[in-house]
Amino acid sequence: MRKMIPDFDKMKQAGEKISMLTAYDYPSAQFVEEAGVDMILVGDSLGMVVLGYDSTVPVTMEEMLHHTKAVRRGASQTFIVTDMPFMSYATIDLAIVNAGRLIKEGGSDAVKLEGGMDIVPIVQTLTRAGIPVVGHIGLTPQTANQLGGYKVQGRDLDSAVQLVKDGQALEQAGAFMIVLEAIPRQVAAQISTGLRIPTIGIGAGSDCNGQVLVFHDILGLFKRFTPKFVKQYAELRLDSVRAIQQFHKEVKLSTFPSEEYTFGLSDEVIQRLYGD
Ligand code: KIV
Repeated sequence: MRKMIPDFDKMKQAGEKISMLTAYDYPSAQFVEEAGVDMILVGDSLGMVVLGYDSTVPVTMEEMLHHTKAVRRGASQTFIVTDMPFMSYATIDLAIVNAGRLIKEGGSDAVKLEGGMDIVPIVQTLTRAGIPVVGHIGLTPQTANQLGGYKVQGRDLDSAVQLVKDGQALEQAGAFMIVLEAIPRQVAAQISTGLRIPTIGIGAGSDCNGQVLVFHDILGLFKRFTPKFVKQYAELRLDSVRAIQQFHKEVKLSTFPSEEYTFGLSDEVIQRLYGD
C-alpha cells in the first residue's frame, strides 16, 4: 500500500518547503526514500550523469522507462516525477502516448515537460487525460542551444516578463507544479508569489516553494562540470576510487580474499576427496 501522497498545494499554503532530488536506479531511489525527501525526479539528466552523454538530448523513452521502473522498485512510497525526453512530446499524439507509458509501464506519478506557453496545448491534453504535469521553465536543457548555452535566463525585463507569463500559462493549462531553473531569485519570487501551484527551484533562489538538485551533484559523484547553484554535501567519488584502489591492490598482493571471506571443507571431506 502506498502511503498518502503529500498535498503539495497545502505545503505551499503552509509555507512548508518541498524537497525534491533526482534518482535514476534502485539504490539511489532507496537512499532518497530513506532520507525522507518529499519527491523524486527521474530527470533526463540521467543522460549525462549516468549514461555519459554530452547533453540530455540523446535520452530516449526506453531509457526513461527503464530507469523509472528501477526507481519505483527502490522507492515504493515516494511521489515520482519522470522527465519526458527530448522529442517525446513534439506533438500532442506523441505526448499522450509517451506520458501514458511513463505512468502505466514506468510506475511514475507525474511527468515533467520543458517549455512555457508553447507547450500549453500539450499540458492541457495530458492533464485532461488524467496525467499530472510538472512544467519546467527558465534554463531548459533540452533546448539549451536555442538559449545560447547553459546560461541564466530572465535577466532582462522582456525575458523576465516572459517567464512570469509562461508560469501563469502553465498553471492555467493544468500543471500542478513548475520547476524554475537558473533564473534570478527576484524573478523566481515574482513567479512563485503570483501562482497558486508550488514552484521548485534549481538555481532560482530561496523564495521558491521547494528545491531540487541532482543526486550525483550533491554527493560529489559527477565531476565533468558543477553549476554555481550546486551545493555538494559529500565527496563519494573520491571515497569510491579509494575503495576500488584498495581492492585492486589487495588482489595483486593476494591479501584478498583472506580466510574471513573464504569457504572451506571439513577434514573428513577433504580426505575423501583427495585421499591420504
Ligand atoms: O533532468 C533533471 O535532472 C532536471 C532537473 C535539473 C530539474 O530536469
